[in-house]
Amino acid sequence: MKSTIQIAIDGYSSCGKSTLAKAIAKSLGYIYIDSGAMYRAVTLFFISHAIDPFDLSAAHEALQDVHISFVRTAEGNHTILNGEDVEHRIREMDVAAKVSQVATISEVRRALVHQQRQLAQGVGVVMDGRDIGTVVFPEAALKIFLTATMEERVQRRFLQLKTQGKVVQLPEIQQNLFTRDYIDSTRSDSPLMKAADSVVIDNTNLSETEQLLMTLALVHERINLHLEKG
Ligand code: CDP
Repeated sequence: MKSTIQIAIDGYSSCGKSTLAKAIAKSLGYIYIDSGAMYRAVTLFFISHAIDPFDLSAAHEALQDVHISFVRTAEGNHTILNGEDVEHRIREMDVAAKVSQVATISEVRRALVHQQRQLAQGVGVVMDGRDIGTVVFPEAALKIFLTATMEERVQRRFLQLKTQGKVVQLPEIQQNLFTRDYIDSTRSDSPLMKAADSVVIDNTNLSETEQLLMTLALVHERINLHLEKG
Protein backbone atom coordinates (compact mmCIF):
# COMPACT_ATOMS: atom_id res chain seq x y z
CA MET A 1 0.00 0.00 0.00
CA LYS A 2 1.21 3.50 -0.80
CA SER A 3 2.60 5.24 2.28
CA THR A 4 3.82 8.41 0.63
CA ILE A 5 1.78 11.59 0.68
CA GLN A 6 1.82 15.01 -0.92
CA ILE A 7 2.88 17.82 1.39
CA ALA A 8 2.00 21.39 0.41
CA ILE A 9 3.68 24.36 2.06
CA ASP A 10 2.34 27.81 1.25
CA GLY A 11 2.90 31.20 2.76
CA TYR A 12 4.21 34.72 2.41
CA SER A 13 7.57 35.67 0.93
CA SER A 14 10.68 34.71 2.83
CA CYS A 15 9.04 32.98 5.75
CA GLY A 16 11.24 29.88 5.56
CA LYS A 17 9.09 27.65 3.35
CA SER A 18 11.98 26.23 1.38
CA THR A 19 14.11 25.60 4.50
CA LEU A 20 11.27 23.62 6.04
CA ALA A 21 10.34 21.85 2.81
CA LYS A 22 13.93 20.73 2.16
CA ALA A 23 14.31 19.43 5.70
CA ILE A 24 11.05 17.44 5.53
CA ALA A 25 11.97 16.00 2.12
CA LYS A 26 15.37 14.98 3.43
CA SER A 27 14.04 13.24 6.51
CA LEU A 28 11.34 11.36 4.56
CA GLY A 29 13.34 10.65 1.39
CA TYR A 30 10.75 12.62 -0.61
CA ILE A 31 11.48 14.90 -3.52
CA TYR A 32 11.41 18.64 -2.93
CA ILE A 33 10.03 20.95 -5.59
CA ASP A 34 10.58 24.70 -5.32
CA SER A 35 7.68 26.06 -7.37
CA GLY A 36 8.83 29.65 -6.78
CA ALA A 37 12.09 28.85 -8.59
CA MET A 38 10.03 28.02 -11.68
CA TYR A 39 8.27 31.41 -11.63
CA ARG A 40 11.65 33.05 -11.06
CA ALA A 41 13.16 31.17 -14.03
CA VAL A 42 10.36 32.32 -16.36
CA THR A 43 10.91 35.86 -15.08
CA LEU A 44 14.64 35.65 -15.76
CA PHE A 45 13.90 34.50 -19.31
CA PHE A 46 11.53 37.45 -19.80
CA ILE A 47 14.15 39.89 -18.43
CA SER A 48 16.99 38.53 -20.55
CA HIS A 49 14.86 38.56 -23.71
CA ALA A 50 13.28 41.93 -22.93
CA ILE A 51 9.78 40.44 -22.95
CA ASP A 52 7.09 42.69 -21.52
CA PRO A 53 4.99 40.40 -19.30
CA PHE A 54 1.91 42.50 -20.03
CA ASP A 55 2.25 41.93 -23.76
CA LEU A 56 0.31 38.68 -23.66
CA SER A 57 1.10 37.56 -27.19
CA ALA A 58 4.85 38.13 -26.67
CA ALA A 59 4.62 36.30 -23.34
CA HIS A 60 2.77 33.42 -25.02
CA GLU A 61 5.41 33.12 -27.73
CA ALA A 62 8.29 33.36 -25.26
CA LEU A 63 6.82 30.63 -23.05
CA GLN A 64 7.28 28.11 -25.88
CA ASP A 65 11.05 28.64 -25.51
CA VAL A 66 11.20 28.25 -21.75
CA HIS A 67 12.35 24.83 -20.54
CA ILE A 68 12.84 24.41 -16.82
CA SER A 69 14.26 21.43 -15.00
CA PHE A 70 16.03 20.67 -11.76
CA VAL A 71 19.33 18.95 -11.17
CA ARG A 72 20.65 17.52 -7.95
CA THR A 73 23.97 19.07 -6.84
CA ALA A 74 26.05 18.87 -3.66
CA GLU A 75 24.35 22.16 -2.65
CA GLY A 76 20.86 20.74 -3.20
CA ASN A 77 18.54 21.04 -6.19
CA HIS A 78 19.53 23.62 -8.76
CA THR A 79 17.18 25.21 -11.27
CA ILE A 80 18.11 24.77 -14.92
CA LEU A 81 16.73 27.15 -17.54
CA ASN A 82 17.26 26.03 -21.12
CA GLY A 83 20.33 24.01 -20.13
CA GLU A 84 21.89 26.71 -17.95
CA ASP A 85 22.21 26.53 -14.16
CA VAL A 86 20.41 29.69 -12.97
CA GLU A 87 19.97 28.75 -9.32
CA HIS A 88 21.90 31.77 -8.00
CA ARG A 89 20.91 34.19 -10.73
CA ILE A 90 17.16 33.77 -10.10
CA ARG A 91 17.59 34.87 -6.46
CA GLU A 92 18.85 38.33 -7.44
CA MET A 93 16.79 41.44 -6.79
CA ASP A 94 15.99 42.28 -10.41
CA VAL A 95 14.19 38.92 -10.68
CA ALA A 96 12.56 39.36 -7.26
CA ALA A 97 11.30 42.77 -8.38
CA LYS A 98 9.45 41.37 -11.43
CA VAL A 99 8.48 37.82 -10.51
CA SER A 100 5.12 38.60 -8.93
CA GLN A 101 3.99 40.47 -12.05
CA VAL A 102 4.95 37.50 -14.20
CA ALA A 103 3.16 35.17 -11.77
CA THR A 104 -0.14 36.97 -12.39
CA ILE A 105 -0.21 35.76 -16.02
CA SER A 106 -2.65 32.85 -16.25
CA GLU A 107 -0.84 31.24 -19.16
CA VAL A 108 2.40 31.15 -17.19
CA ARG A 109 0.60 29.63 -14.22
CA ARG A 110 -1.15 27.00 -16.35
CA ALA A 111 2.14 25.86 -17.90
CA LEU A 112 3.97 25.71 -14.57
CA VAL A 113 1.17 24.01 -12.64
CA HIS A 114 1.04 21.35 -15.36
CA GLN A 115 4.78 20.75 -15.02
CA GLN A 116 4.61 20.78 -11.20
CA ARG A 117 1.96 18.03 -11.24
CA GLN A 118 4.00 15.98 -13.68
CA LEU A 119 7.16 16.24 -11.58
CA ALA A 120 5.24 14.96 -8.57
CA GLN A 121 3.60 11.97 -10.22
CA GLY A 122 3.84 8.75 -8.25
CA VAL A 123 6.38 9.99 -5.70
CA GLY A 124 6.36 11.37 -2.18
CA VAL A 125 6.66 15.11 -2.64
CA VAL A 126 7.06 18.29 -0.66
CA MET A 127 6.29 21.37 -2.72
CA ASP A 128 6.35 24.96 -1.54
CA GLY A 129 4.83 28.05 -3.08
CA ARG A 130 1.69 30.16 -2.93
CA ASP A 131 -1.05 28.00 -4.48
CA ILE A 132 0.14 24.47 -3.73
CA GLY A 133 -2.57 23.53 -1.22
CA THR A 134 -5.30 25.46 -3.02
CA VAL A 135 -4.63 24.77 -6.72
CA VAL A 136 -1.71 22.46 -7.49
CA PHE A 137 -2.52 19.72 -4.96
CA PRO A 138 -5.94 20.46 -3.50
CA GLU A 139 -6.01 16.84 -2.28
CA ALA A 140 -2.64 17.03 -0.48
CA ALA A 141 -2.73 14.99 2.74
CA LEU A 142 -0.90 17.72 4.63
CA LYS A 143 -1.07 21.45 3.97
CA ILE A 144 1.01 23.87 5.99
CA PHE A 145 0.51 27.61 5.87
CA LEU A 146 3.72 29.14 7.15
CA THR A 147 3.94 32.63 8.53
CA ALA A 148 6.33 34.91 10.44
CA THR A 149 6.49 38.62 11.25
CA MET A 150 7.64 40.99 8.51
CA GLU A 151 10.62 42.04 10.64
CA GLU A 152 11.80 38.45 10.98
CA ARG A 153 11.27 37.71 7.29
CA VAL A 154 13.27 40.76 6.21
CA GLN A 155 16.10 39.79 8.53
CA ARG A 156 16.16 36.21 7.21
CA ARG A 157 16.26 37.31 3.57
CA PHE A 158 19.00 39.84 4.37
CA LEU A 159 21.16 37.11 5.94
CA GLN A 160 20.40 34.67 3.12
CA LEU A 161 21.47 37.19 0.46
CA LYS A 162 24.53 38.17 2.50
CA THR A 163 25.63 34.52 2.67
CA GLN A 164 25.44 34.48 -1.13
CA GLY A 165 27.65 37.58 -1.25
CA LYS A 166 24.80 39.93 -2.19
CA VAL A 167 24.49 43.04 -0.11
CA VAL A 168 20.99 44.47 -0.31
CA GLN A 169 19.73 47.10 2.13
CA LEU A 170 16.97 46.16 4.57
CA PRO A 171 14.43 48.75 3.28
CA GLU A 172 14.76 47.41 -0.28
CA ILE A 173 14.16 43.87 0.94
CA GLN A 174 11.18 44.93 3.03
CA GLN A 175 9.66 46.84 0.12
CA ASN A 176 10.10 43.84 -2.16
CA LEU A 177 8.50 41.40 0.31
CA PHE A 178 5.64 43.79 0.98
CA THR A 179 4.95 44.38 -2.73
CA ARG A 180 5.17 40.69 -3.63
CA ASP A 181 2.88 39.67 -0.78
CA TYR A 182 0.38 42.28 -1.92
CA ILE A 183 0.44 41.24 -5.60
CA ASP A 184 0.46 37.52 -4.72
CA SER A 185 -2.53 37.86 -2.37
CA THR A 186 -4.66 40.05 -4.61
CA ARG A 187 -4.16 38.59 -8.12
CA SER A 188 -7.26 37.05 -9.66
CA ASP A 189 -5.68 33.74 -10.74
CA SER A 190 -4.69 31.47 -7.83
CA PRO A 191 -4.06 34.13 -5.20
CA LEU A 192 -2.03 33.28 -2.14
CA MET A 193 -4.50 32.25 0.53
CA LYS A 194 -4.73 29.85 3.38
CA ALA A 195 -6.43 26.61 2.32
CA ALA A 196 -9.35 25.90 4.65
CA ASP A 197 -7.80 22.56 5.67
CA SER A 198 -4.27 23.85 6.23
CA VAL A 199 -2.37 23.97 9.51
CA VAL A 200 -0.98 27.42 10.28
CA ILE A 201 2.51 27.56 11.76
CA ASP A 202 3.97 30.88 12.84
CA ASN A 203 7.69 30.22 12.96
CA THR A 204 8.79 33.69 14.12
CA ASN A 205 10.10 32.27 17.38
CA LEU A 206 10.78 28.69 16.31
CA SER A 207 14.17 27.23 15.48
CA GLU A 208 14.56 25.24 12.27
CA THR A 209 14.64 22.05 14.36
CA GLU A 210 11.51 22.99 16.27
CA GLN A 211 9.52 23.72 13.11
CA LEU A 212 10.76 20.50 11.54
CA LEU A 213 9.80 18.34 14.53
CA MET A 214 6.40 19.99 14.73
CA THR A 215 5.77 19.33 11.04
CA LEU A 216 7.09 15.77 11.11
CA ALA A 217 4.62 14.94 13.89
CA LEU A 218 1.83 16.13 11.56
CA VAL A 219 3.33 14.22 8.63
CA HIS A 220 3.34 10.92 10.53
CA GLU A 221 -0.21 11.48 11.72
CA ARG A 222 -1.33 12.10 8.10
CA ILE A 223 0.60 9.13 6.71
CA ASN A 224 -1.15 6.86 9.24
CA LEU A 225 -4.54 8.30 8.31
CA HIS A 226 -3.69 7.83 4.64
CA LEU A 227 -2.78 4.18 5.25
CA GLU A 228 -5.97 3.59 7.24
CA LYS A 229 -8.05 5.01 4.40
CA GLY A 230 -6.22 2.68 2.00
O1 CDP B 1 11.41 32.41 -1.58
P1 CDP B 1 10.43 33.55 -1.65
O2 CDP B 1 9.44 33.45 -0.55
O3 CDP B 1 11.06 34.86 -1.80
O4 CDP B 1 9.60 33.40 -3.00
P2 CDP B 1 9.53 32.22 -4.06
O5 CDP B 1 8.91 31.02 -3.43
O6 CDP B 1 10.85 32.06 -4.71
O7 CDP B 1 8.46 32.78 -5.11
C1 CDP B 1 8.75 33.92 -5.90
C2 CDP B 1 7.44 34.44 -6.44
O8 CDP B 1 6.90 33.49 -7.37
C3 CDP B 1 6.32 34.72 -5.47
O9 CDP B 1 6.43 36.00 -4.86
C4 CDP B 1 5.09 34.61 -6.36
O10 CDP B 1 4.86 35.80 -7.08
C5 CDP B 1 5.48 33.52 -7.34
N1 CDP B 1 4.96 32.21 -6.99
C6 CDP B 1 3.64 31.92 -7.30
O11 CDP B 1 2.92 32.78 -7.79
N2 CDP B 1 3.14 30.68 -7.08
C7 CDP B 1 3.90 29.73 -6.55
N3 CDP B 1 3.38 28.51 -6.37
C8 CDP B 1 5.23 30.01 -6.19
C9 CDP B 1 5.73 31.27 -6.40
